[in-house]
Parts: sequence; structure tokens; C-alpha cells
Amino acid sequence: MSTILGLESSCDETAAAVVDGGRWVRSNIIASQHDLHAEYGGVVPEIASRAHLERLWPVMQRALDEAGASVEQLDAVAVGNRPGLIGSLLVGVSAAQAMAWAIQRPLIGIDHVQAHLYAATMPAPRNDLAAPGKMGQADEDAPAAGSSCYPALGLVVSGGHTTLYRVDSPLSPTVLGATIDDAVGEAYDKAAVILGLGYPGGPAVDRAAARGRSGRHRLPRSLLAPDSLDFSFSGLKTALLYKVRGRPVGRGRQSRFERSAEDLPEQDRCDLARAFQEAAIETLMTKVERGIAQMASAGHPPRSLLMGGGVVANSLLRSEAVALEHRCGIPVRLAPMALCLDNAAMIAGLAWHRLNENVDGDGLEIAAVATPGRAPRPQRHR
Ligand code: KG4
Ligand code: ZN
Repeated sequence: MSTILGLESSCDETAAAVVDGGRWVRSNIIASQHDLHAEYGGVVPEIASRAHLERLWPVMQRALDEAGASVEQLDAVAVGNRPGLIGSLLVGVSAAQAMAWAIQRPLIGIDHVQAHLYAATMPAPRNDLAAPGKMGQADEDAPAAGSSCYPALGLVVSGGHTTLYRVDSPLSPTVLGATIDDAVGEAYDKAAVILGLGYPGGPAVDRAAARGRSGRHRLPRSLLAPDSLDFSFSGLKTALLYKVRGRPVGRGRQSRFERSAEDLPEQDRCDLARAFQEAAIETLMTKVERGIAQMASAGHPPRSLLMGGGVVANSLLRSEAVALEHRCGIPVRLAPMALCLDNAAMIAGLAWHRLNENVDGDGLEIAAVATPGRAPRPQRHR
């Protein structure tokens, strides 16, 4: 069984993990940079890449120590090399290249978004955080989500992506629909700013929504054309902005909102967070049901639903996914809580499939690619 060291540095988490056989997580170390970016209300690319540089080596060392693995025992090194912030990606890619060269093992470049989707097929690591329902229990011994879960309908919901896929195998998802404006995680982060709830926004809105009352406010669900599998969250965000701050008063540079979030009583803010959360998650679930129907009418009914990415940590999404499973009779696999947010276990896990396809890996010349589709030529070492 192959043992792979995975590295992840695409945004604001520096992560390293050791995974056996694509699914057994021996270590999963994540150094979050949230404290460094909090005062700016979002990720500052230069701060992120500098922090990766300082943290990656100790994080990698700890991942090896916790796994009880020496570098000689590694069969390959994998790194998330696309998409992401270019400066941040370069730190992880350079470290992975150096490590693979030093220990003379194959190097594998992994698509971060595909890895989020793959995390839905991985069992929860032993130290997984408690999560509602059966999805969060540590089930390392659960049967593997092997080929029996394909074709699947996949949903990735993160800070940068909101995408539906038809998935025929771990390495071949086909895009069925994607956001035409904000990603849902990004909308959560902006909603938190509008509501004055701080950073990172998703968990803050989720917590406030839990204290909010349902039905006090109604915010729009943007479903686009009746057969569309694309998403749009900018209208929801703007509707929340007006509910919280009122109408703009004045024109041009003099324009101001009637009030700010701080003028609203705490309970009102929680009620609005709840209305936002209900609209966002209902929109996602409606599109998933459309996706199931469209795959079925195309003659390929999905055998499972796979959901990964940071927003899969959301409490309402997790409970609605269980309800959807009962309604549609299709098994739903959510990424375990410890593998929802950015992590390197999902990178090392998916890399195992790539290594099976190609024992030599992708070569030392893999490039960091900020936006797939605009891949630069690999750098040639002279
Ligand atoms: O997958 P991820 O760690 O990074 C990206 O690849 O973007 O996702 C981060 C996103 C952030 O936008 C964050 O606000 C959101 O996931 N998020 C949540 C929750 N926890 C994290 N959104 C809603 N509810 C949550 N509990
Ligand atoms: Zn991510």
C-alpha cells in the first residue's frame, strides 16, 4: 500500500499530511493563518505566501512525526499545484519539488478543487471533529467508497468555488454548472462583514444563524433559468446588505447607508443570518436536486452524491444533505469535518489514484497554476 506525503498551500492554510492507500489518514496537520488576515477582513496574498514560507517546513516535519513515518518510507510526494494564489502555490510546489528530488520519489501535482470532491469519499480520520449525524463519526474502518459510488453527482462549495460535477472516477469530474458571480463561501464571508460578525465569515454566520429565528425575514433564492445548473449569490448578498443597512442616502461620494449592522439589536442580526443561511443552503440543495434529475434523464442516474469544500462544514447543509438522502434515496457522502476546510490529506488521498495511473508521477517540472485553463508552460531546468 503506497504512503504519500501531501502538501497544501493554495490559500491561507499551510498543511501537510501522510496518507496510506488513498484513504487512511496517518497525520493531517493544518496551520491556519486566520489570525494574520483577520484585521484585513480577507486574505492578503503577500502575507499568506510569507507565512507559508515560515510554516511549511515545521508543518511537514510534524506530519511525518505524527505519522511515525521516515522520508525513506514515502512512496511519493504530492502537492496542490492549482488553482490558488500564485505566491502561495509556489511555496508548496517548490517545497514538494525539493523533497521529491531529495528522496528520489515521484512528484504528483493535484487539482485542489478535485481534491475537495475526493475528500467526500474518504473516511473520517480518527480525530475528526464531532459533526451532526452519522457523517461526522470517526469511521476509518467503514467500507471504501470505491467504484460503486460512480457515476456520482458532485458538489464543491468553498471560498473560491461553487461547482456541480458529474463524476465518473476520482480523477475525471466533468463540470455541469458553476457560479456566475460569487462562490457561496465568499458570499458567507461577505455576509459576515455586512452583519459585523468578523472573519472568517462562514462559521460566524453559521453560529449566529443557530440563534436566529426562522421566518422573520425572507431573502431571495436566485435559481436562474429553470434548467440551469449554474449558481448566483450576488443578489442574495446585496439583498442582505439593504436589509441590514437600509437604503443608500445621498448621491455619489456623499452616499451613505441609513444605518450600520451595529445599530441593529443582536437578535435581529441573528435573524438575518438565519434568513441568509436558509436562502443560501436551499439554493444549493435545489440545484443538487436539478442535477440528479438531469443526470437521470440523460440515462446516467447518480449512484451517490459527493459534497466537499469548506461550506460542507455548515450545520444546515449537513442536516439538509441527510434530508435529501432520505427524499431522493441516493446515498450522500459528505467530506468528514476534518477534511472539509483546506487540508493536505485530500491532496495525498487523490494523489494515490494518480500514482496508480502513472507510477512515474508528473515529473519534477510541474508548475504552479493560479487559474486552470491558463496553464503556463512547465519551467525547463537548464
Ligand atoms: O475549502 P475552503 O477551506 O477554502 C477554499 O478552497 O476556498 O473553504 C473556505 C470557505 C470560506 O469561505 C468559509 O467562510 C467557508 O468555507 N466556511 C463555511 C463554514 N465553515 C467554513 N461556510 C458556511 N458555514 C460554515 N460552517
Ligand atoms: Zn479549498
